Amino acid sequence: MAEEKKKRDGFGSKIGIIAAAAGSAIGLGNIYRFPCEVGNNGGAAFLLVYLLVVIFLGIPVMLSELVIGRCSQSNSVGAFKKLAPKTAWPIVGYMGVLCGFLIFAFYSTVSGWTLEYIVKSVTNSFQGKDLATIEQEFTAFHDMGWRNVMWQGIFIFLTGFVVFKGVQNGIEKYAKILMPLLLVILIVLGVRSMTLPGAKEGLTFLFKPDFSKITGKVLISALGQGFFSLSLGMGVLITYGSYVKKSDNLTSTAFSVVLADTMIALLAGLVIFPAAFSFGVKPEAGMGLVFNTLPMLFNQMAGGYWFCLIFFVLLAIAALTSTISLLEVLVAYLSEELHLKRQWATVVACLGTMFLGTFASLSLMSGTPFTIGGRPVFDLMDFVSSNVLLPVGGLLIVIFVGWKFGKQKFFDEVTNEGTLKSALVKIFFFIIKYLAPLAIAVVFISGLIK
Ligand code: PHE
Repeated sequence: MAEEKKKRDGFGSKIGIIAAAAGSAIGLGNIYRFPCEVGNNGGAAFLLVYLLVVIFLGIPVMLSELVIGRCSQSNSVGAFKKLAPKTAWPIVGYMGVLCGFLIFAFYSTVSGWTLEYIVKSVTNSFQGKDLATIEQEFTAFHDMGWRNVMWQGIFIFLTGFVVFKGVQNGIEKYAKILMPLLLVILIVLGVRSMTLPGAKEGLTFLFKPDFSKITGKVLISALGQGFFSLSLGMGVLITYGSYVKKSDNLTSTAFSVVLADTMIALLAGLVIFPAAFSFGVKPEAGMGLVFNTLPMLFNQMAGGYWFCLIFFVLLAIAALTSTISLLEVLVAYLSEELHLKRQWATVVACLGTMFLGTFASLSLMSGTPFTIGGRPVFDLMDFVSSNVLLPVGGLLIVIFVGWKFGKQKFFDEVTNEGTLKSALVKIFFFIIKYLAPLAIAVVFISGLIK
């Protein structure tokens, strides 16, 4: 109990919760997955749907999760048990825990790559190479399946170490300084990228929507990417919300996090697409889109060696603050609901993730046995968790707040028992109760049907 008390005091200040929630949100989802999804879904049309999702659904869902967490002072499963005893609602929490395992498993694969790329940057191994060589080396790296697994293991260990030691606060403090630095670096890279020959085509791809490209797949992908990037729908913000002080302003927290996350994603797009078109990397190149375009870009920059190194270090840290939040959901559940000691819970969750994650990593080798329906297990884990479980989780969360939790409690929680004035509370509740569930359901179902 004493330990729990200490943990729940975690985010002492408002900047603390914003830093932690933004730390969770900003990560590979913005810099790696966002460009991949834009590239695979036809560019600007996807971006448009994505922005609508983030603004109209992201903020209300995030607010709902924070409200559930802070009101219940519990992990994602315990929260529903407390707020809706003797009902089926805790299933939403269990779904979140399962989803957390799945995301952590494949996310740690890509997180591991950032470590490989830090080593490559230190040894200056991109310099003077052309695109074909860089691409070849990226594929060759995947084929070294066990090397991927090794980096993945190291990354999971690092995450476990931070959560085990309970030093998240320390990490968030660094993140407060380092994430703005990431923003600055992205701006510099963006400027270089946009001044490359042929960059304009990339900007057209990113910003000139072709509405005929809005297919069912685009809708589902944009919905999934929105939830993924904001860490919504699986209880990260319920768990983090439970550590937030009663005097913090939840609405402005949600606004700040969504704004920061979206800015970083847009900047990543501005870095990747102009450069990709300029170098001849296909927008549909998937994983290679980011990991091959960036080294090419660094090669074209004065001081490219340092930019490359600093960038990958920051990317690894951005990924770490996200994996910490994923692990925190699992550990909070295991320790509070299954009464494992916090330290054991960390070990169990990390080992479980490592087991599952090994399949994700090994499924990207050529000739891998780990495929389902011809697709790597990695893709499947990503698709099921991000594009199915997160939106369904988000849908159930807004329905819960709108219809079960109720208006009065929502108002009390958001206005801190009436001490904060918020003209927007009524509008938010209306969106949460009616519009958000409808919109998520419509996008999701029309995506499935199309
Ligand atoms: N939002 C994180 C990112 O963009 C990934 C994440 C998803 C983290 C879901 C926690 C929960 O990198």
